[in-house]
Amino acid sequence: MANENQYKLKTLFIATRGVEEFRQTIEKWVKPLDSILEIGCEWGTTSTLIHEKCKNLIATDISLDCIKVARQKYPEIRFETLDAFNIKEAMRLGNKFTKIYIDMSGLSSYRALLDVISLVNMYAAVFEPEAIIIKSGSLKQFAKNCIAWNR
Ligand SMILES: C[S@@+](CC[C@H](N)C(=O)[O-])C[C@H]1O[C@@H](n2cnc3c(N)ncnc32)[C@H](O)[C@@H]1O
Repeated sequence: MANENQYKLKTLFIATRGVEEFRQTIEKWVKPLDSILEIGCEWGTTSTLIHEKCKNLIATDISLDCIKVARQKYPEIRFETLDAFNIKEAMRLGNKFTKIYIDMSGLSSYRALLDVISLVNMYAAVFEPEAIIIKSGSLKQFAKNCIAWNR
C-alpha cells in the first residue's frame, strides 16, 4: 500500500550531457547567495565559472595532484580533496549546500546509472540542496524517459 508519509526529497536533479551543457547551467542556476559544493573539479575550470557568480564555493576532487594545480591557478577559490563516495568526509566540509555540482569521471555510461542515482540521492538526503547539477549522459537519457504520473 502507498504510504503518503514516506520521506520525499525536494531536491531537483539536473542531468547534463557533456561539459558544455554542464557549464551552461551556471548562468541559470548559480546565484550570489548560494552555498555550493563542487565535486570532480579537476584543475578548476568550471570552478572559476561558478566562482564568478558565487563566492561561497568549495571545489573538490579525489586527486591531490589536480587540487594542487587548481590551488596554484586559482588561489582565490577554496579547493579540497574529497572522494565523493566518502559522505562522512563531505560532511566535514559543511552541513548545508544550496547547490551541488558533480562532474566525476565514469558516471556517463549506462552501466553507471545505478551508481549515479544512489550518489545524487545520498547528497540530496544529507545536504538538502535545492538542486544537484550532474554531468551524466545516462541519467539525462533516463530522465527523458521518465514521467511522474499525475492525473
Ligand atoms: C572530467 S574531470 C572533471 C572536469 C571538471 N569538472 C571541469 O569542468 O574542468 C573528472 C574528475 O573527476 C574526478 N573524480 C573521479 N572519481 C572521483 C571521486 N570518487 N570523487 C571525486 N572526484 C572524482 C577525477 O579526478 C577528475 O578530475
